[in-house]
Amino acid sequence: MDHYCVLGNPVAHSKSPAIHARFAELTGQAMDYSKQLAPLDGFTATLQQWIANGGRGCNVTVPFKFEAFRLAGTASERATLAQAANTLKFGDGGQIEADNTDGIGLVNDIQRNAGVSLAGRDILLLGAGGAAAGVLGPLLAVGPRRLVVTNRTPAKALELVARHAGHPSLRTLLQKTELLAQEQQGLEANFDVIVNATASSLGGGTVPVHASVLKPGALAYDMMYGEAAKGFADWARAHGAAPRDGLGMLVEQAAESFAFWRGVRPPSAQVLQEMRKALV
Ligand code: ATR
Repeated sequence: MDHYCVLGNPVAHSKSPAIHARFAELTGQAMDYSKQLAPLDGFTATLQQWIANGGRGCNVTVPFKFEAFRLAGTASERATLAQAANTLKFGDGGQIEADNTDGIGLVNDIQRNAGVSLAGRDILLLGAGGAAAGVLGPLLAVGPRRLVVTNRTPAKALELVARHAGHPSLRTLLQKTELLAQEQQGLEANFDVIVNATASSLGGGTVPVHASVLKPGALAYDMMYGEAAKGFADWARAHGAAPRDGLGMLVEQAAESFAFWRGVRPPSAQVLQEMRKALV
C-alpha cells in the first residue's frame, strides 16, 4: 500500500482524500490518501517526516505551494513558470520532484467538461496571486488570441505578465497570443472567458471589474466552489454570462496529480459528476 496526502493549513475541509480514494478504487490502485496539517512555520519538517514514514508523494495546498516548489530538487516546466507546486513525488533516495497541475486542471475542466474551446479566444484572468500564477502558463499553452491579466494591485499583474513574457519556453507560444496586464478600471474590451483567481469573494467583496468585460454568453469561471462561488456566479448570470465553479478544476488537478504519481489516468469526468451530486 502506497501512501499519499495533502499538506496544508488549514486542511480539514479538503475534498482531495475523497477524490483520490475514488480514483484509486476505480483504477484498482493500492494506495491511501490522508490529510496532514502542517504548522505554518513547520512545512519542511512535516514534509520530511512524511517522506521518512514512507510517503510516496503529496499534494500541497495553501499556503505552502511556493515553499514546496523551492524545496524540490527538480520541477516541471509548468511548476517553474508558476514558481509554485501543488504536487510532489518522492524518489527512493528521498529526491523531491515538483509539478503544478492546477493550470492543466483548469484548462481540462473548461475544454473537456464544460466543452468550451480556448484556442483563439479572448481570456481575462482576474488576480495575480498564487492561484493566478498557477494557471497562466497552461492558459497560454492552449493558444488564446489574447490573454489579459488584471489585478487590484496592478504592479503584481505587470510582474506576472513580465515573468511569463520573458520566459524562453513561451517565446513561440507568445507569437500567436497577445499577453498583457491592464488596470481593472481601464478594461474596455470584452472577453469570451473570464477566470476569477482572486480571493475577493472570501472577504465578502464584489467582483472587481465592470460587467462590460463579459461578451454575451461568455464563460465566467470561478476557481472557488460552493458558497464562496455564489457571488461571482450571480454577477455573471445577471449579466448574461454562463457561470462555472471550480469543482471541476479541483477534480481535474487531482486527476493530473494521480497520473503523475501512478502513471494511470482516472475517470475524472465520472468522479466530477459524483462530487457534483454530493455537493447539492
Ligand atoms: P492565492 O494564492 O489564492 O492567489 P493570494 O496570493 O493572496 O492568494 O492572492 C489573492 C488575489 O486576490 C490577489 O490577486 C489579490 O489582489 P492583490 O494582489 O491586490 O492583493 C486578490 N484579491 C483579494 N481580495 C480582493 C478584493 N477584495 N478585490 C479584488 N481582488 C482581491
